[in-house]
Amino acid sequence: MKGIVLAGGSGTRLYPLTRAVSKQMLPVYNKPLIYYPLSVLMLGRIRNILIISSPQHVNAFRGLLGDGSRLGLNIEYAEQPEPNGIAEALVIGAEFIGNDPVTLVLGDNVFHGPGFGRLLQAESRDVDGCVLFGYAVADPERYGIGEVDGDGRLVSLEEKPARPRSDLAITGLYVYDNNVVDVAKNIRPSRRGELEITDVNRVYLEQGRARMVNLGRGFAWLDTGTPDALLQASQFVQTLEQRQGVRIACLEEISFRMGFIDAGACYELGSQMSQMDYGRYLMEIAHQN
Ligand code: G1P
Repeated sequence: MKGIVLAGGSGTRLYPLTRAVSKQMLPVYNKPLIYYPLSVLMLGRIRNILIISSPQHVNAFRGLLGDGSRLGLNIEYAEQPEPNGIAEALVIGAEFIGNDPVTLVLGDNVFHGPGFGRLLQAESRDVDGCVLFGYAVADPERYGIGEVDGDGRLVSLEEKPARPRSDLAITGLYVYDNNVVDVAKNIRPSRRGELEITDVNRVYLEQGRARMVNLGRGFAWLDTGTPDALLQASQFVQTLEQRQGVRIACLEEISFRMGFIDAGACYELGSQMSQMDYGRYLMEIAHQN
């Protein structure tokens, strides 16, 4: 399984915050936003990851994450010259995907919930078709919306419907079989001139090969699209981290717990930041285990 993080877009709803800085580089409490979706792929046990960003910002991500080897990952980079839609990531990433299935996550989506890694691993095993993840929201007209039958099969799909048929938003996490590269290459741009991910998903829906898993009400899927939403996401992470003394989307910790790096390497990464709580946290975790 390959993984793609799409960290493109122009972030205009966050101007002037995003005039010179990529949206996915903005802080969510104590980490850059992209750490959160990256942690999702890692929890899904995905180690070969492509980060796609605009030509203006791609080097900043390279500077932040490098080749990933520090985290036991292989991270590659590609450019999306214009914000031409989410599905374009699958065309840009075609060579990287090769003959493998792929999980795509949007670089500005924050997911947090118990057992999420296990769920993702189970849902992506031998994927035939596509698996989407639904989440009940109060404002469904702002999202892609799906409806499922009793077996979890997707039966309808609409992008930002004026009259939504359900309140289940389709989150920015998509698991596909290898066929998705051909599907994405063959859809036509929408009226907005974009390759819409909803049009890719519709192809699978029409083939009866799209499933949607409801993440459920105990789960957090947070928006980061506006200054208020971004602040709320920060406060959510701060609340849980301070209350429980554990860290959310701490990439080094996840690498260690997933077995991508050993305790010695985790300790070493922590000791490089030993003046900070973040570093001491990693040293402590390595020590305990
Ligand atoms: C995109 C998708 C939409 C999905 C959302 C999740 O919308 O088109 O189906 O629900 O991401 O974040 P956008 O955020 O590009 O408007």
